[in-house]
Amino acid sequence: MDFKLSEEQLMIRDAARDFAKAELLPGVIERDNKQEFPTKQVKGMGELGFLGMMASPEYGGGGMDTLSYVLVMEELSKIDASCSVIVSVNNSLVCWGLDTYGTPEQKEKYLSKLTTGESIGAFCLSEPEAGSDATSQRTTAIDKGDHYVLNGTKNWITNGGSADYYLVIAQTDKEKKHKGINAFIVEKGWEGFEVGPKEDKLGIRGSDTHSLIFNDVKVPKENRIGEDGFGFKFAMKTLAGGRIGIAAQALGIAAGAYELAKEYSKVRKAFGTEIMNHQAIAFKLADMHVQIEAARMLVYKAAMDKDNHENYDLSGAMAKLAASQAAMDVSVEAVQIHGGNGFVKEYHVERLMRDAKITQIYEGTSEIQKIVISRSILKD
Ligand code: CAA
Repeated sequence: MDFKLSEEQLMIRDAARDFAKAELLPGVIERDNKQEFPTKQVKGMGELGFLGMMASPEYGGGGMDTLSYVLVMEELSKIDASCSVIVSVNNSLVCWGLDTYGTPEQKEKYLSKLTTGESIGAFCLSEPEAGSDATSQRTTAIDKGDHYVLNGTKNWITNGGSADYYLVIAQTDKEKKHKGINAFIVEKGWEGFEVGPKEDKLGIRGSDTHSLIFNDVKVPKENRIGEDGFGFKFAMKTLAGGRIGIAAQALGIAAGAYELAKEYSKVRKAFGTEIMNHQAIAFKLADMHVQIEAARMLVYKAAMDKDNHENYDLSGAMAKLAASQAAMDVSVEAVQIHGGNGFVKEYHVERLMRDAKITQIYEGTSEIQKIVISRSILKD
């Protein structure tokens, strides 16, 4: 495996790094405190092409590889994981899903606005009783000839309040179980579609997470994605790529916390010397570095599998499992290295620790990744 980055990839990574320092860092603590959606920052990311990186240039996308996207996710996440989850959902779930499975009309109408940041997308699979158990969809989409009628509730939807377009998964034919599930493009403002209250969260507080309520929402048939009954496969395929994006987010959180802890250890003195000179701290930094590098290799490998058109279900799940564990472990240690200051908001590591937790939950919990991994390694 050759992880040497090309000139172009390095340029994209550096552009994301510079943007994160200049545009995301100022105000990140206030946005977290106030649970404020980063409207201005999202606009900036759209202008840089970060919202539709892998999508077809024909529809305003960047036509870039997954590895470039992962590099951008990592850099943004080092500083503001609330912003990076917006990027991740828009790129991996919404734009990729539409670009890969949408009709030319759907792409023209929706994708071309989502790639540029003119519009934001949300991916709506989870329900009060269907988070991990994604086949148990209660939201129904009844076929009425030229349209479907959508009823039900979705939960914990990233970009739930700020999105313009929603990819909604729903059950059309219960008898057929997962083969009776469909995916639809739903527009904000359609009659009967209501955005529920914003969740008050532990982490990624700058991103807005809502429940969504569908009450007899009329969805034109041309807004169904793929053939009748394709919705569950659509969700699984889309999430498999989404997991690489979240793995990169977790990697960025870990790397961001590590860099802060390393710098702090060079300036903070205790027992007459900088704390990096104490093995208690140096060994922690060594462990953090190793865990991050190991996770990085899995994340890049998954991205390269996707770019090389190889199956990335296994490598993506492995990357997400390892990187989200690294995010958790490293950010906890970064707080520990900071001592009392680690518990104070202005040092940033407590936020990264709070943000880390969600990477073990969304787009499939760590336990779900283990299901995907064990099924894959045991099947032959
Ligand atoms: N690609 C293509 N098809 C797939 C697939 C994949 N990666 N994974 C499963 N399928 C297909 C199977 O082949 C099967 O189809 P057939 O019957 O035609 O063979 C069908 O889907 C059902 O598969 P399973 O029997 O394996 O289904 P299961 O009920 O055992 O569940 C699971 C499998 C992996 C646990 C799945 O339900 C899952 O991934 N759950 C987690 C869902 C999830 O990630 N939720 C997160 C919500 S989205 C989110 O968080 C976004 C956000 O806001 C940030």
